[in-house]
Amino acid sequence: MYRPVNLSEDIFYVGVNDRRTNLFENMWPLDRGVSYNSYVIADEKVAIVDTVEAGHFEKWIAKVRAILNGRPVDYLVVNHMEPDHSGAIRILTELYPEMKIVGNKKTVPMIEGYYGITGNFELVKEGDTIDLGKRKLTFYTVPMVHWPESMVCFEETNKILFSSDAFGSFGTLDGGIFDDELDFEHYIDEMRRYYSNIVGKYGNPVQKALQKLGGLDIKMVAPSHGPIYRENIGRMIDMYDKWSKYEGEEGVVVAYASMYGNTEEMAEVTARAITESGIKNVRVYDVSKTHPSYIISDIFKFKGLILGSPTYSNELHPNMEALALKLEHMGVTNHYFGVLGSFTWAGASVKKLREIGETLKWEEVAEAVEEKHALKEDKYEACWQLGVAMAEKLKAER
Ligand code: FEO
Repeated sequence: MYRPVNLSEDIFYVGVNDRRTNLFENMWPLDRGVSYNSYVIADEKVAIVDTVEAGHFEKWIAKVRAILNGRPVDYLVVNHMEPDHSGAIRILTELYPEMKIVGNKKTVPMIEGYYGITGNFELVKEGDTIDLGKRKLTFYTVPMVHWPESMVCFEETNKILFSSDAFGSFGTLDGGIFDDELDFEHYIDEMRRYYSNIVGKYGNPVQKALQKLGGLDIKMVAPSHGPIYRENIGRMIDMYDKWSKYEGEEGVVVAYASMYGNTEEMAEVTARAITESGIKNVRVYDVSKTHPSYIISDIFKFKGLILGSPTYSNELHPNMEALALKLEHMGVTNHYFGVLGSFTWAGASVKKLREIGETLKWEEVAEAVEEKHALKEDKYEACWQLGVAMAEKLKAER
């Protein structure tokens, strides 16, 4: 009754789809759901690579049992401890008390802390190998991709990299499991939204991981969310390389907050000037309407960024403040920048947005535009010139 999904002769996908959870990490909208990927290697010894979120245990263990047909589990490889992958560890140890839990020195205290498990660990460090019979797994640490204990493992016979959160994506696996079975383009936006919001703060660690793994002859990448890659590996690594350097392509995100439409009008004028100056990729977002995860994803995609906010009680509009502070915390660098703002009795928003831009070393392309009350002719022209200046900066890179 169960048709296994093979990565190779005795390596199986046993992941599950989650279309019920609304918010990943209780923050990030899952409009297209998410998959929790897990793998079984049924060699002379049996290893499971990562588990799933606890609420999906039943459908996951049914797949595992169908494949193992009564065989015991020798190893559970814990590449990453975030509970979307480690959630079934405790119950699995009760089902298979002889099973060794494979982790590094940073994994073990987390397993103890989260699940009260204190023994049966097989400690591995960089470059260590466990022998499963015909196959071996070699471990590489990738700290902060996504947590300090994060690691990946490489199966040397079929050259499969079990990459944990690295190269993961939001979006359930709707029938297709491998990238050559599905519409890969359909996943790219969700892949970038996953990367930028979940791992995006850690550009330098991602660069180090790419360098470390670059020496491996990888034929397949099996992450812990989203499609398994066997056709688009080079393209996917190129995208990760660009995103982790914050190297956006030609285009502009214009994100604004607006209570009564005055800052919005400034954003509209600026966006029109950008496109009339020859830039087609312009995305205008009202931060009170669109969840920041989508805006952040496009900020990782495009090199140009214009932020606009009214002054609200001598501060930024709270929804713009949330977005701007998130960008500051993530350390998103390497952008061309412009600022818009309006106020009624005293201006503060433009100053605060410019300070964030300075902190992140964004290059301001033109003088910030700050209007009192409704937009009037001279500031309309200033918004237009800001848009023109942004477009000229981008076109100069062609
Ligand atoms: Fe998919 Fe950082 O857990």
